Amino acid sequence: MQANKLMKNPSYFTLALISSILIYSCNQQSTSSSVDNPNLASISSNATSGYQIDTDLGEKIDPNETASTKAIEADFIQTLKDHTKNPPTQRPVHAKHHGVVKAIFKIDNHLIDDKYKVGIFAENNKEYKSWIRFSNGNPPGAASDTSPDVRGMAIKLMNVSGKKLLDSEANEQTQDFLMMNNSTFFIKSLDLYVTFTDAVKDGLSGLAKFALFHPGTTYNIYKIFTKQVANPLTTDFFSTTPYKLGSTAIKFRAKPCQEESQSRPANAGPNYLREAMVKTLNQKDACYNFMVQFRKGSLNDMPVEDSTKEWDESASPYIKVATITIPKQTFDTPEQQKFAENLSFTPWHALPVHKPLGFTNRVRRVVYETISIFRHTQNNAPRREPSDFNINNR
Ligand code: HEM
Repeated sequence: MQANKLMKNPSYFTLALISSILIYSCNQQSTSSSVDNPNLASISSNATSGYQIDTDLGEKIDPNETASTKAIEADFIQTLKDHTKNPPTQRPVHAKHHGVVKAIFKIDNHLIDDKYKVGIFAENNKEYKSWIRFSNGNPPGAASDTSPDVRGMAIKLMNVSGKKLLDSEANEQTQDFLMMNNSTFFIKSLDLYVTFTDAVKDGLSGLAKFALFHPGTTYNIYKIFTKQVANPLTTDFFSTTPYKLGSTAIKFRAKPCQEESQSRPANAGPNYLREAMVKTLNQKDACYNFMVQFRKGSLNDMPVEDSTKEWDESASPYIKVATITIPKQTFDTPEQQKFAENLSFTPWHALPVHKPLGFTNRVRRVVYETISIFRHTQNNAPRREPSDFNINNR
């Protein structure tokens, strides 16, 4: 029904197309050649090797997974190459940050069963020093916060002991949680993701064709990109994709303690989201409840591979497992901006008990690492995980 509405209303249709263009920078070039940098050549060579699929939790490998992941990875690299003409090389998506802020992530595990008190949730009241980066989802160049966009919140807990999932960063002491300001992702399957990126490469005509044949996906994009945001510090953020919590699957969310405001200020300027954060954190602390939603019932109702499907909150409500406090602070300094630029977040900076699940996350396992290596190499920047709030020794 929503898709019909989209197709009947040309302004919806146009906006969805514009939104689509804004997510991925259009490029007309071939994706067949992977990556010139020898450091990168092998990352996607076998996208599904090196880790176990959790079939018991509903994971299922796509027959074309390695090739499709390679094609998506090449697209992102091409986007970056296109932008390298203007250094520094920024992230190909989520390029603009509103700020990276210091936070305390304090565990509150009393509402979950003992068998789920694992990983970072093992010890009640434990406090993790964390960095949080708030971003717009668009590629470099789409400067204004008033453009249609998705918003990101990336949390990095520090001093988390134990081997991590990425072979190349197994000994790092960080655990990341990446979220966006919508409870579902917009692409249902890996095939569709590749069809979509191919459409983006074909420019407007490709996108028009995509919208015609995939109105549901186009509507998902439109819905996410046109959400109004007043201030990242009062915005609800969601993992959209599932993760392990010990023996089961969960989704997670950062819900602001203060009631969410969804209206953009009338006189919003191009950087109004950073300005709103500065204003708040000059005056007071900000706070979120970090919550998990357990997967229950059938895989049809709560799938692991399809992140476009909402897990019904009435069947499984979100449960609080931590409090995130962002203390009053000054964060918008040039040094801290540079620090934010050189950070790398990935869902795979994770303990095995918090392993990302589903095809979207499996693609991200390859792509985030490739992109991070590429942009740090281009920028001649150190690529290492932080261990404290000191940004001067980086
Ligand atoms: C297959 C699907 C996806 C792909 C290919 C993808 C790709 C990327 C890439 C390449 C980056 C830049 C990484 C870097 O340069 O270090 C990025 C950043 C980011 N992505 Fe995704 N992404 C996907 C899905 C998602 C989903 C489902 C979410 C959240 C629900 C998400 C949230 C973010 C956030 C918050 C950042 C910014 C991280 C930071 O602050 O550095 N992405 N994504």
